[in-house]
Amino acid sequence: MELSDEQKELFASYRVGDTQYQLAGGEEGCFKLANDFYDQMETLEETQHILSLHPNNLEESRDKLARFLCFYLNGPHLYQEKYGNIQLGAAHAHIPIGSAERDAWLFCMARALDAQPWDQNFKEFLFIRFQTPAHRIQNRP
Ligand code: HEM
Repeated sequence: MELSDEQKELFASYRVGDTQYQLAGGEEGCFKLANDFYDQMETLEETQHILSLHPNNLEESRDKLARFLCFYLNGPHLYQEKYGNIQLGAAHAHIPIGSAERDAWLFCMARALDAQPWDQNFKEFLFIRFQTPAHRIQNRP
């Protein structure tokens, strides 16, 4: 996707300090995004295969993703405070993730981002950002 000069400038401003965390609505906003993300995964027919990779009870998965998002958006290290350090690649190494699983994860995230009351540019910025870890986590074709 080709970014306009205005978007490039805007995206650079998002990288300053904890701007992303603030724009996302802080802790509450990160928890909302994580919950909306897993609500999508539970509801969508085309993402049942990645739902089945998760524990039956998603409560801890929701909490882990929400806390990770706070840290990922340059906010407080809430994941580390409760669960310790995390390296995303290692945390997913035991989970079979090919391109179909990666795309299903990104699909849930696109829908969850869509549901947030945030500026469209900020949502696009985050969706582009999520591509990198999603591709890195992929561990089979
Ligand atoms: C690429 C496709 C992905 C798939 C199929 C996937 C799937 C999973 C699964 C099955 C779990 C285990 C849940 C649990 O035990 O509670 C998990 C954990 C987690 N995922 Fe993903 N994931 C993907 C990408 C991502 C990305 C891109 C991020 C962050 C940007 C992420 C963040 C996390 C976190 C923080 C955890 C908790 C890890 C832990 O504490 O053990 N995942 N994921």
